[in-house]
Amino acid sequence: MHIPSRILEIELPPFDPLNVRAAHLRAAGHEVISLGQALPFYPPPASAVRAAQAALERPGVHGYTTDPGRPELRRLLAERLRQHIGVECEADDVMITAGANHAFTTALTTLISAGDEVVLPAPYFTNHQMAVQAAGAVAIEAPVADRDTYSVTWNDIAPALTDRTRAVVLCNPSNPTGAPVNAEAGTRIVSELAARGILVISDETYLHFVYDGHHWSAASVAGWRRNVVVIGTFSKSFAMMGWRVGYLLADAPVCTQAIKVQDAMIICAPTISQIAAEAAVRDDWNYPLTFHAELLDRRARLSDGLGRIAGVSWMPTSAGFFAFVRVDGCTDSNQLALDLLEEAHIVAIPGASFGRSGEGCLRLSYGSVSGDGLVKAIERLTRFLG
Ligand SMILES: Cc1ncc(COP(=O)(O)O)c(C=O)c1O
Repeated sequence: MHIPSRILEIELPPFDPLNVRAAHLRAAGHEVISLGQALPFYPPPASAVRAAQAALERPGVHGYTTDPGRPELRRLLAERLRQHIGVECEADDVMITAGANHAFTTALTTLISAGDEVVLPAPYFTNHQMAVQAAGAVAIEAPVADRDTYSVTWNDIAPALTDRTRAVVLCNPSNPTGAPVNAEAGTRIVSELAARGILVISDETYLHFVYDGHHWSAASVAGWRRNVVVIGTFSKSFAMMGWRVGYLLADAPVCTQAIKVQDAMIICAPTISQIAAEAAVRDDWNYPLTFHAELLDRRARLSDGLGRIAGVSWMPTSAGFFAFVRVDGCTDSNQLALDLLEEAHIVAIPGASFGRSGEGCLRLSYGSVSGDGLVKAIERLTRFLG
């Protein structure tokens, strides 16, 4: 069967092979510690689980919702986004999707044409690059110059623009670096791009995990409706990865078009998941904030431990739960991650998975590993890398 080159050329990141190998090692009796997964350590809020349990008794839960999602969930979400990140929005500007990745592909299908260029400040989130390629567009890597803070600026993006640029993707806070977009820099990026008629697709999956100050949203810029689309999810904030529920925030007329894509793809996000998400938004919007102290403790331990390993550098970033660690002399992070797994029984993600500019680095997630696991992981990293 003919498979088009835009699909053949997509490279799957090595997450699955690493996890499969880790499972084999575990089955053989080894204690493997995963610093690979972008997950929080806590469970979903009880309000969400209870709402889903109660809903299972009601017949309506087995049907579809309207394409853009439950009206009450859209209304509540718009209200929370207004309060939490100062976004001027209404329920009609919010569409419920089957997670952030689905919101991203829906935005691309709605707004991008084949051959358009989409700029990804790098290191980028791997699935963004894959989705751009799958859409038949061209992903342009724009390396972030500041390799300590990984704070993206207009100067990183401007050189990558051409007359074919249709969109710039912000990942704020960033997976893989944990760097938030600074309000001043972000406002300039949104405004400069608006002046050039270029879209901003802002993935704000980690909006609840900002430890210094407040999350800055691309949709908080006055006039955001001209060129900003924001993507969010219940996966990380509310630890509801498998529920597959997220959202897309865009000017209502853009949502009206995106709903066609949603209808063709999945009709609506899973009804039971929307009911659970609605309870989380109504009763537990600030639930993720109660875990900040624990996450900061993990970040401090990791920073302390890594700081003692010669040839390894990481400046802790102030959001998310990732350490994007540079390893001196590493020119093949894929091989390094394989060796780390075989020899030290630690899963880490090779930096090269996040673009060419990530080569020489490893992404370590401190979101899901237990406190004890982190101590052991640091000991093993010290032995292996030291
Ligand atoms: C930046 C970013 N966007 C999107 C996703 C996917 O989220 P979802 O589970 O909502 O599709 C992830 C998951 O790791 C992520 O890190």
